[in-house]
Amino acid sequence: MQIRPRRRRSSAPMREMVAETTLELSNLIYPLFLVDGTNVKKEIASLPGNYRFSIEHLLREIDSCVKLGLHSFILFPSVEDRHKDKKASYSFSSKNFYLRAIKEIKKRFPQIILISDVAMDPYSSDGHDGLVKNGEILNDETLPILANMALAQAEAGIDIIGPSDMMDGRVGFLREALDYNGFPDLSIMAYTAKYASAFYGPFRDALNSAPKKGDKKTYQMDPRNIREALLEAHLDFNEGADFLMVKPALHYLDVVKALKDEFDIPIAAYHVSGECAMLIAACKNGWLDFNKAMPETLYSMRRAGADVILTYFAKDYAKLIK
Ligand code: PBG
Repeated sequence: MQIRPRRRRSSAPMREMVAETTLELSNLIYPLFLVDGTNVKKEIASLPGNYRFSIEHLLREIDSCVKLGLHSFILFPSVEDRHKDKKASYSFSSKNFYLRAIKEIKKRFPQIILISDVAMDPYSSDGHDGLVKNGEILNDETLPILANMALAQAEAGIDIIGPSDMMDGRVGFLREALDYNGFPDLSIMAYTAKYASAFYGPFRDALNSAPKKGDKKTYQMDPRNIREALLEAHLDFNEGADFLMVKPALHYLDVVKALKDEFDIPIAAYHVSGECAMLIAACKNGWLDFNKAMPETLYSMRRAGADVILTYFAKDYAKLIK
């Protein structure tokens, strides 16, 4: 035998030397859930180990993550029903606790990267990402609402805007709104290929944001499509997106790879709540070993080409490698 691949697997340092994929803490973005009020730290039943935090607990949580070496966070608000309406007007109200929290977090931790969510669903009485009229999700009428939301977040001091709504033309619309209002340097991480997926369940439990009627199939992508993801990516790229995201990640690694091959800007993979919950459940049952299955899962997204990974396992991974 001339070629024996096993020679390169003979010891740990040898395997380390030839490893093709790296996973650094700088590649990870940790999603966090915020609630209004004080002294709240409530576990999300369908995503054990993850919590809805009120601001003082959230600051403590970020502090402990920063000490572990994590520096990027994406923040989602869990909004009380009484603040929800058809137009998601609370999303850009000066009373909004999410906007207050962004200010406070950036004041306490100016060095971290804080990413927002731009979509109507956490604030919408319809539970949809866009404006609903006669059962339809209106595209163009939604764009100014998203722009108001993005500008309010920009003024609060957010580092990256994260439009997750899947309205057509929103990246260009938001780019223009940011540029004309004095925020030309603020980045956009576009949820480019966001699929109408069954794997968002625990997230919607966390925010109580599930659609009141119908589903999101008229704006989120059909799970059977990949060429359409390239079209979405071309649009977002041309409209000025700074990052292209694929979501969910694990079930769409081919899409991550396709975008990575085609575009020269960073590709983000969102390892979504349901994908994390499956692994947590199997480990809780003793069927899988979390400390082995978790990093293997994260490697798969890096191997497929993800530059950054949004994952509920970011803190677990940081603890593991410490
Ligand atoms: C809402 C939004 C969703 C997620 C991120 N932003 C859910 C949805 O589209 O219904 C899901 C994230 C996850 O499941 O971890 N615009």
